[in-house]
Amino acid sequence: MLSTQRHKIRRLRAAASTFADDVREGLLAVPRRLPAKYLYDALGSLLFDAITALPEYYLTRAEREILERESDAVIAAAGTPDEVVELGGGSGAKTQVLIEAALRAAPAVLLHAVDIAGDALEAAAQRMVERYPGLAVVGYAGDYEAGLEALRLDGQSALMLFLGSNIGNLDPHDAHALMSQMRAALRPGDSLLLGTDLRKDPAVLEAAYDDALGVTAAFERNILVRINRELGGTFDVARFRHVASYDVESGCVSSHLVCLRSQEVRIEALDLTLRIQAGETIHTESSYKYGEAEIDGMAAAGGFVRVASWYDAAHSFALTLMRAK
Ligand code: AVI
Repeated sequence: MLSTQRHKIRRLRAAASTFADDVREGLLAVPRRLPAKYLYDALGSLLFDAITALPEYYLTRAEREILERESDAVIAAAGTPDEVVELGGGSGAKTQVLIEAALRAAPAVLLHAVDIAGDALEAAAQRMVERYPGLAVVGYAGDYEAGLEALRLDGQSALMLFLGSNIGNLDPHDAHALMSQMRAALRPGDSLLLGTDLRKDPAVLEAAYDDALGVTAAFERNILVRINRELGGTFDVARFRHVASYDVESGCVSSHLVCLRSQEVRIEALDLTLRIQAGETIHTESSYKYGEAEIDGMAAAGGFVRVASWYDAAHSFALTLMRAK
């Protein structure tokens, strides 16, 4: 299939609801909310990249530290996969470390990369095949669900990657559902490598999600800028403050935008006018942190067994390898 052209991109069905539908539903809900997936327009993606370089945001560095040290061990424990499936990583630096390890162990590897950003995926796929002669790439431009449905594995063994603590942005019900969908796309004996941020000191977590420079605040408030631009909104963005608070019981860092001064907001494309009172909040994101037992529980509920876990030196982040039952 890929002997002459070693990469191809499949454009999958668009999600059923649109930005406009979800903004309407979320802003009319009590309490108000906006789905976190809309944080990632072009500027939001750049701001997220900047977050990963912040001194307070340890997650990306911790995960990279583990991958650089343990990639060969991960590939060996996963049974030397000849297919790697990546959910939502954009075929970035982290994937490359694992692909290099996979290619040290096997002569040829097929990467299935699922990402919502089709153009970025295409550019990354092209770069990857140019760089690694043993690699072929199939890109699936769509959301996780569509990508997992479209996925067809026909190699000897597959390793699925869900890194970056992306599972943490799902509430427990959705996280369990996605674990089951990932399991359904794999065959018994295939593996999943899951990156989870671990529970820790609330002060460390709150700083990670509300940094001194205000980059995270800009990232979260950008969703209002996006509504103003794309839907003809009139949010007075400067009059919203980003607040991140950690709930020890649930293990969740919740991000909210707090309205500082009562305002009337018109959203032309929705033909909607809202009065938002001072002190009202808009929930923008949840970032769940996990304990060891919760990771085991999630594996079991999804139809996996834990094979091994690796940690950074500070024990702040875990990479867990699970085998599909
Ligand atoms: C992408 N995701 C795992 C990040 C997180 O840690 O929840 C998004 C983020 N939001 C604010 N900072 C980083």
